[in-house]
Amino acid sequence: MAPGSSRLLVAVVALLHAAAAGNGGPLTRYDRVFSFGDSLTDTGNALHLSATTGGPASRPPYGETFFRRPTGRASDGRLVIDFLVEALGVPHPTPYLAGKTAADFRRGVNFAFGGATALDLRFFESRGLGSFVLVSLRNQTVWFNDVLRLLGAEQRKTMATSLFLVGEIGVNDYFIGLNENRTVGEVETFVPHVVGAIRSVVTDVIAAGASAVLVPGMIPLGCEPQLLTLYRGSVDAAGYDPESGCITRLNGLAELHNRELRRALGGLRRAHPGTTIVYADLYRAVTDIIVSPREYGAHALHARNRQQISSFPCFVPDRFLISSSHAGFRHRPLDACCGGGGGAYNYDDAAFCGAAGAAACADPSEYVSWDGVHYTEAANRLVACSVLQGSHSHGADAMTTLSNSSATTEDWLHRIGCV
Ligand SMILES: *[C@@H]1O[C@H](CO)[C@@H](O)[C@H](O)[C@H]1NC(C)=O
Ligand SMILES: *[C@@H]1O[C@H](CO)[C@@H](O)[C@H](O)[C@H]1NC(C)=O
Ligand SMILES: *[C@@H]1O[C@H](CO)[C@@H](O)[C@H](O)[C@H]1NC(C)=O
Repeated sequence: MAPGSSRLLVAVVALLHAAAAGNGGPLTRYDRVFSFGDSLTDTGNALHLSATTGGPASRPPYGETFFRRPTGRASDGRLVIDFLVEALGVPHPTPYLAGKTAADFRRGVNFAFGGATALDLRFFESRGLGSFVLVSLRNQTVWFNDVLRLLGAEQRKTMATSLFLVGEIGVNDYFIGLNENRTVGEVETFVPHVVGAIRSVVTDVIAAGASAVLVPGMIPLGCEPQLLTLYRGSVDAAGYDPESGCITRLNGLAELHNRELRRALGGLRRAHPGTTIVYADLYRAVTDIIVSPREYGAHALHARNRQQISSFPCFVPDRFLISSSHAGFRHRPLDACCGGGGGAYNYDDAAFCGAAGAAACADPSEYVSWDGVHYTEAANRLVACSVLQGSHSHGADAMTTLSNSSATTEDWLHRIGCV
């Protein structure tokens, strides 16, 4: 044993005791997490398929802020799911494709896969879209059933003591249509299908014994640097939201998805009164940061603790004006941190983050978007805080319905530095 390691062991043992002391209390409400989704939630699955193993998230500078190496996460550090897991005090779920045995999966499983769609290839083909769908929600359900088989007799008890995350999923379905020049109106016709696929997964996990399901909604598509770049020149000034600088029509697509998703969840709650089903408003969490970036700046959490910030201390209306002179979280929340640079949003499809010639900004914590598609660790933490705080949630959507007490929610928030 190396000299330092006995001290480390002592620290680990102390931690285990601390965790054990909490046993039986409200903090141990969930023992593990199971999750479904796309690159916003993938913690290593895409690294394990030969077709995707060398993707951008497998290369530097991905992971530079937190893990100090690429882990397959599409960010400079942790994802929203990492913060939620830390807040709950449960293990990081095993990426499905990195596990084999029941023992690998007892700690929870992450089925989310970078690039995953809600819908199957057949749907896109029937619309004349020659897309490339490697993993859909149907694949993730097949994987989930495989885990259920492995768990055998432990299955129902395991499901009942787990928190399920179903989403975010659907952003790639919409990207496929928008990238092939379909009108937003046509892409809106995908919404009932996408929401139906999500509802089907929620139904499946409830049938397997789930007692608590968190369903994150769609992100504000019109604020994505990739889409802002794609639509540049084809949207006139009136097509941008004056407050956020985002494309109104694309945000409307996300809002439609979210309305239909919430309606579907309402139906599921009525059909399954014994299951807690909570909607997480990612849309509001992200647009809040974009609309008042100074309030959520790099040091906002710290400053907030010192109560030095009142809301909108100094509104900067030109923060989204087209200029490549200065990029910063507080001033230009629609710029990507990492990529080939240039362009209005510091985004270039041909020089995506992780490619030769692409580089990251000096301080990712000042940016909302990491690579033009995915968020920075700084934004992900704030989104996790917003989900846990449920600042836009009421009734059945409030996180306290998942935590079972406001004291528990407070503990969760403290653990990841929200308050
Ligand atoms: C996903 O499902 C499709 C259709 O069943 C199948 O052809 C494909 O091999 C699956 N992909 C993976 C990675 O399992
Ligand atoms: C979409 O339209 C743009 C601009 O008109 C064009 O350059 C691009 O090739 C089109 N893409 C597809 C997939 O048709
Ligand atoms: C919430 O806590 C109370 C008391 O600790 C318990 O009786 C109840 O079953 C819990 N509700 C849920 C949904 O876990």
